Amino acid sequence: MKIDLLQMVEYGGCSAKISPKQLEEILKYLPLPSDPNILVDIDTHDDAGVYRVNDELALVLTTDFFPPVCSDPYEFGQIAAANSISDVYAMGGDPVLALNIMMFPAAKLPMEAYEEILKGGFDKATEAGVRIIGGHTIDDFPPKYGLAVVGYIHPKKIITNAGAKPGDYLILTKPIGTGIIMAGQRLGMADAADIAEAISLMKLLNKTGAEVMNKYKVKGATDVTGFGLAGHALKMAKASKVSLKIDMQKVPLIGNTYKLIDEGCIPGASFSNLEFAEKDTYFAPGIDYNLKMIAFDAQTSGGLLMSVSPKMVEAVLPDLHAAGLTTATVIGEVIDFKGRNLHIEN
Ligand code: CO
Ligand code: CO
Ligand code: CO
Repeated sequence: MKIDLLQMVEYGGCSAKISPKQLEEILKYLPLPSDPNILVDIDTHDDAGVYRVNDELALVLTTDFFPPVCSDPYEFGQIAAANSISDVYAMGGDPVLALNIMMFPAAKLPMEAYEEILKGGFDKATEAGVRIIGGHTIDDFPPKYGLAVVGYIHPKKIITNAGAKPGDYLILTKPIGTGIIMAGQRLGMADAADIAEAISLMKLLNKTGAEVMNKYKVKGATDVTGFGLAGHALKMAKASKVSLKIDMQKVPLIGNTYKLIDEGCIPGASFSNLEFAEKDTYFAPGIDYNLKMIAFDAQTSGGLLMSVSPKMVEAVLPDLHAAGLTTATVIGEVIDFKGRNLHIEN
């Protein structure tokens, strides 16, 4: 029997996140622990928390898990692991250890699928130099998988949402459109080449991007996941108290992403992401509707969005290209706060 995980879910990957608006409402009332060793917490909406151990070492802690974003169990495991580990890379850290988090419907799926998911996660973690030293499984439908990850970082070298400076350029390391393409697959609308490209991009670790950021001492970055390019850019702009200006014409897209929107393929997550960001976003008059919706497309295991000083851009780009991130490009800039935190143009 060929297992097709995608047939079990309505929303897969990071599209399955709770809406950012609901999340914000709840988190507002949750007390935050106070401890001088907490260097990064939820306050700046960063990708991971950071805890100082001593002057040389801090721990980066993060977790992510989600329902299947693709059909094949092994590939799902790889993608979920790459996505979980990515939050450590986004902060400039070195991922070291992880635990499996698994929800699996033992009565509904052959155990072979369980094994394949774990094997995909193990292989991707190994590629990242991460040792998986335990885990936990709950019987649940549909399946969900991810990792809790611990990384090392120097307390003075943390890259955060709050590090974007006016004058910086914004570099995006992977093309976007995974939410739209994978929704297109579920509806039988996406073509095979686009699905293959989306899957290989989601499997790709942000390791090389993080190495380039560390080499050039980049201060501000995030990875682009469930809240979409625009949603994560907005978090960065707010934490940095600046405005981010994105030119959607410059954003690399996977295959027929644009055309799929013409055909009506817009995942629900795009609308909840748009709803969350709307009040803080300035859209250029006459903005192209498709590009606007693509800006809010929930990405799974997306690329890094980094804020790079103008004098470094000419060095950073060739390094990213040489590392295999051939579509890495400047998609916008950071400006002094002007009216709203996010400016989307085309
Ligand atoms: Co993240
Ligand atoms: Co995350
Ligand atoms: Co346990």
